[in-house]
Amino acid sequence: MNLLNSFSFELPTKIEYGVGAAKSLADVIKNKNFKSPLLVTDEGVLRSGVLKRVSDTLDAHHLKWEVFDRVEPNPKDYNVEEGTETARRLGADCLVAIGGGSPIDCAKAIAVVARQGGAVRDYEGPGKIGPDVLPLIAIPTTAGTGSEVTFSSVITDSGEKFKFSIKDPKIAPRVALIDPEMTLTMPPALTAATGMDALTHAIEAFTARASEPLADAAALYAIELIGTYLKSAVADGDNLEARAGMLLGSVLAGIAFSHSDVAAVHCVAEALGGKYDAAHGVCNAVVLPAVMQYNMEYCKEQYARIAVALGLTCETIDEGARQAVAAVQQLAEDVRLPEFATLGVQEDDLEELAANSFKNGSNIDNPRPMSKEDYLNLFRALGS
Ligand SMILES: [Fe+2]
Repeated sequence: MNLLNSFSFELPTKIEYGVGAAKSLADVIKNKNFKSPLLVTDEGVLRSGVLKRVSDTLDAHHLKWEVFDRVEPNPKDYNVEEGTETARRLGADCLVAIGGGSPIDCAKAIAVVARQGGAVRDYEGPGKIGPDVLPLIAIPTTAGTGSEVTFSSVITDSGEKFKFSIKDPKIAPRVALIDPEMTLTMPPALTAATGMDALTHAIEAFTARASEPLADAAALYAIELIGTYLKSAVADGDNLEARAGMLLGSVLAGIAFSHSDVAAVHCVAEALGGKYDAAHGVCNAVVLPAVMQYNMEYCKEQYARIAVALGLTCETIDEGARQAVAAVQQLAEDVRLPEFATLGVQEDDLEELAANSFKNGSNIDNPRPMSKEDYLNLFRALGS
């Protein structure tokens, strides 16, 4: 890291953290004088009873609300269109996203399209999003995405089966209610997958070419928290301290990658998610060790610091770097993440997957340059 490089750091989201913080939603809505909130969520959150816990607090304060619960995993462009129509029809003056990355990312896109029109893909690329965006409040129910504090939203183009990002500080939630109790109902497999997503955010942010010191600080503490608490949160979902550690780790990792970037792991994960509708956290976990190995020579010092954040002791930088990769691989195994083979990747799709990974906006920030051919080799190595 060169301390003489300039950078800017902006965190537009007000973070309210605490056990029970989600119950303050009614106060947030009243203080901001919103009259017609639209809750944006998905079926899983609805079924788990978590949505009701939030809406009950709105009812208790006699606040009017509506819900759009048709967000799919890897949210699609047509989910954004339907949510936008709903928001317009109901005259929503704010959105409240309750869920994991899918509802929060979808709500960010609805917030833009509802006010600025057009199709969501029109906003891909820098400088496309104007100032008029529906205000968004986010309540995460998973510890992984970090979307409650990030400036980006990843949406699947359903025609192309390609995940693209819209990115601008204006789409960051105004308020994030970070409440560990909201993550208690997550089953072990989802806890593991979303937790590995958060770890990937932190590792990629820390090693990305766009990294900067404040993002690095957030990333390292995120790695420490996730290394300490992921296994306990998976083994015992009722462990509130572990849930809190994971949720804070995920928020810090979100802050880190919003100000730095993600890199090749996410390029691959988004190509896989777009093509096969596969779970984002699983896609990350299955490729993270292989990409770390590929990047090794370009970021040994950072990897050695990651090893320390994971609680390992090492005599040399080389040893630390090797231990970091091994520890990440072991963690994925310990929390029983599925292997690459379970994704059902077809040989015939590899060219397309490599091309989509290469054209991902975050490819440029991978510490070691990666060509389309390099991605193809990575897919082949993972599949063999
Ligand atoms: Fe991610």
